[in-house]
Amino acid sequence: MKKEEIKKLVSNMTLEEKIGQLTQIRTSYYNNMNTSGTGTKSKLNINNNQKWMIGTVLGKLDAAMMIEIQKEYLKNNRLGIPLLFMHDIIHGFKTIFPIPLALSCSWDEGLVEKTARISAKEGSSSGYQATFSPMVDIVRDPRWGRVIESYGEDTLLNSLFGAAMVRGYQNNDLKEEDTLISCVKHFAAYGAAEGGRDYNTVDISEYRLRNEYFPPYYEAIKAGAKLVMASFNVLNGVPSTVNRWLLREVLRNEWMFDGTVISDWGAVKELIPHGVAEDSKDAAELSLKAGIDIEMSTTAYFEALPELCKDKNMEKLLDEAVEKVLLLKNECGLFEDPYRGVSTEKEKKTLLRSDFRKVAREAASKSMVLLKNSGVLPLESNKKVALVGPYANNKSILGPWSLDGDLNDVVTIYEGIKNKNIIIEAVETTPFSDINEEDISKLMNKVTTSDVVILALGEEEKQSGEAGSVSKISLESSQVKLLERMKELNKPVIVLLVNGRPLDLTNIINKADAILECWFPGTEGGNSVADILVGDYNPSGRLTMSFPNGVGQIPVYYNNLATGRPKDLLVNEKRYKSQYLDIPNEPLFPFGFGIGYSNFEYSGLTFNKNKIKRNEEIKCSIKVTNKGKYRGIETVQLYMRDKVADTSRPVKELINFKQVEINPNEIEIVDFVISEKQLRYWNTENQYKSDDGVFEFTIGKDSSSGAMFEVTLIS
Ligand code: BGC
Repeated sequence: MKKEEIKKLVSNMTLEEKIGQLTQIRTSYYNNMNTSGTGTKSKLNINNNQKWMIGTVLGKLDAAMMIEIQKEYLKNNRLGIPLLFMHDIIHGFKTIFPIPLALSCSWDEGLVEKTARISAKEGSSSGYQATFSPMVDIVRDPRWGRVIESYGEDTLLNSLFGAAMVRGYQNNDLKEEDTLISCVKHFAAYGAAEGGRDYNTVDISEYRLRNEYFPPYYEAIKAGAKLVMASFNVLNGVPSTVNRWLLREVLRNEWMFDGTVISDWGAVKELIPHGVAEDSKDAAELSLKAGIDIEMSTTAYFEALPELCKDKNMEKLLDEAVEKVLLLKNECGLFEDPYRGVSTEKEKKTLLRSDFRKVAREAASKSMVLLKNSGVLPLESNKKVALVGPYANNKSILGPWSLDGDLNDVVTIYEGIKNKNIIIEAVETTPFSDINEEDISKLMNKVTTSDVVILALGEEEKQSGEAGSVSKISLESSQVKLLERMKELNKPVIVLLVNGRPLDLTNIINKADAILECWFPGTEGGNSVADILVGDYNPSGRLTMSFPNGVGQIPVYYNNLATGRPKDLLVNEKRYKSQYLDIPNEPLFPFGFGIGYSNFEYSGLTFNKNKIKRNEEIKCSIKVTNKGKYRGIETVQLYMRDKVADTSRPVKELINFKQVEINPNEIEIVDFVISEKQLRYWNTENQYKSDDGVFEFTIGKDSSSGAMFEVTLIS
């Protein structure tokens, strides 16, 4: 359909039909399925006429249902405008990949894109046209349960992986039936909720928004995302839902976003408890004026817009919003084919294909991060193992945002290890908490004949995800007890962690002989764990969120701004510097950290210039040698520091990285080109600019180490 035809269609619509297009309700209003979505499930005040005017729905579906609902809908919709189906397809649809935070630890853009491509193929085959993903909120507080959905604490990584997800979903051509419209969320800065408590206040200077929080949304939009979700939170006093600066000035005017904007679940009416709207009328007016095109899961628009649109200016805003929704439907070809090629046969052939499972296994292996290894890993083939803990043989390893994953398809850790023909002397799946002394003693008797104990510990799925904020981020005390008692047997103990956030591992770090962070690894999780345990995969994951040295450090992240009293420089000063008196400043495991079975040595740093002008480039390189016995992937990280700027700048910023796969005893030269553009930041004059002066660059294996050189930028 052409743009003019859409305008014409809008002009033929009644006021109520227009409002219907702007209202999103649950799919269950049409299929009576009890959807396991999010948010409060209060019944909406939608009458039977309005039901056939609704523009978009969200919630569970399959191909047969979609066909049935669309058929019925089109019979009843006066103008024959098809319904658009949206859903939370976050890290896989039927084939579940690791949680996004885990995926980011692969540092592999191509792989991340592949997972989204598969999600789009699967999701679209079941009747969806849009997914509420990616979430590119920067996260620095592991108490917040939704860190599982982000790509971590770094701006560059969220930008790269967010854009990769958009490309994977939309594949540059939404007319293709196997694509999904991508919705970037949650605009803006939802991840900075005070105290890590979900839905809580966010207060961030424009300086930090522009330099740290905005770029990932912008890059996802540049990659083509057609939908943006406003966040629940108050941003600097104004809820995003009614934040005209955010939604109109920044998003529309500056970034030239011409897609559609949706509220988060119930957020329009939540303006009342937020204290910025008196009633539904107020909420509807403020939201439409701010630029919310679709109201998700409340009906303030239905209730108030008929009255409000007596005002010509409001009616104009209404028409613009309706156009945006119709354009979205047009974008994905719904007007040409309201079913978008969906059939039950195609669905059956598409879901959980064996090649999709292969990618899930690769993704899970590449996402896991080996945090400690005193030499017990990889396991020698003749060793007898005992497998104990809440995740020993537990299918619930998909993660809290895998709404459509089927537990029957999951490979558990036990099944994965069994596939490797390892002798398993004992398997005990224990409760998450409340393991008493007696049970532990019984368990100890069962493991006496094994050579190694593998403890599969972690958090329950419900402990993270939306509304999954917690104040304690260490393992349950009974799991720690289990580890302590197992250690008494004088056997090596390997800890596998299945969880959704960086944990406080201070109370187990010295007790375990090896620790593998497995995250919620998805459908193929058990196979990937086993691949790593036996050395079929050499662990290559690197952290994208720091693991704190105690909750008292939170937020702790690698790219904090420089202070006037830096602890590491004031070596002779005992007290008056930026530090904690009782714990170190450094996290337990820094951003970028991860070990493997090879030892990669860095040497021979080179760089071509120590002074550059703005039109020149810096070329630098480093030699990486695999000194180990295993072929492996190394992630070479390039950081910079702007030493004298207009404002205080981060002590380190990731500006590039490269992955190289190297055979034992072989060398790779890894080179980078740095351009002036990478040195820019949002300054006090509200411009993205670089400053003349000294820049420090570090090439290393994580954010806490590396080879350093300086270059001066001159005009
Ligand atoms: C979440 C969104 C999600 C939406 C729809 C909300 O509660 O914040 O991320 O996309 O529900 O399920």
